[in-house]
Amino acid sequence: MITRDPQTLDAPAVRRVFAIMAARGIDVRPEAPAPPDEMEMVDARIPARFRKAEVEHPQLHDWVQTMLATTRRGSSGELTAVGGPSLLMIGTTGTGKTYEAFGAIRALTSAGARLAWKATTAADLYAALRPRTGVDTERELATMARCPLLLLDDLGAAKASEWTEEITYRVINHRYAEMLPTLITSNLPVSQLRQAVGDRVASRLAGMTGRAIFTGPDRRRHPAA
Ligand SMILES: Nc1ncnc2c1ncn2[C@@H]1O[C@H](COP(=O)(O)OP(=O)(O)OP(=O)(O)O)[C@@H](O)[C@H]1O
Ligand SMILES: [Mg+2]
Repeated sequence: MITRDPQTLDAPAVRRVFAIMAARGIDVRPEAPAPPDEMEMVDARIPARFRKAEVEHPQLHDWVQTMLATTRRGSSGELTAVGGPSLLMIGTTGTGKTYEAFGAIRALTSAGARLAWKATTAADLYAALRPRTGVDTERELATMARCPLLLLDDLGAAKASEWTEEITYRVINHRYAEMLPTLITSNLPVSQLRQAVGDRVASRLAGMTGRAIFTGPDRRRHPAA
């Protein structure tokens, strides 16, 4: 017989047990520790420059609202995102794409939505997935491909090779097939992005993402813009 120490039960299993007991009018929850401030936890993972980022772009605003509309209320009252739309954020350098992407993640959190998310630049993703001894890069790839929300920043900026194209394809194809929400930024116009990432990726991006165009001056050079 397989027995499991209650301490080692995974959280979904514990929540299911609590839900069944609650349905029978029995509250078995131990004194819960005060929940850590979700916003602080999210901000701690956001690069310092974007920790106060807010959504201004109308399409990012719509994206956040649609994401919130796809959430489900969990057993402890939190909003858990289930699937959702993806967005390709295109614009020249310094127009606020990364800022707004983190702003959108912050907006979801402050609205009470809880979802696991990951953010990486495409260049960092390729670096992390370079095969090397002692590192399970397949597992890392699966983590990025499967995470509930992914911000893939600066797609098309890294030097392309067959290998980078294959990595991008595997991540994007999984997210396309599973309809997982993905924020993608690029400072290449769409036609150049297609060349940079290859037709298979470009086709999936066209099928899975709405588009948000960023215009204006480089805010790094003109901070008051
Ligand atoms: N709406 C905003 N309000 C205040 N600051 C902003 C806003 N949008 C962008 N910034 C600031 O402008 C700078 C450039 O923004 P960001 O890094 O998001 O540009 P980007 O479009 O991602 O550029 P790149 O394509 O080079 O990565 C950053 O310092 C950012 O904090
Ligand atoms: Mg950026």
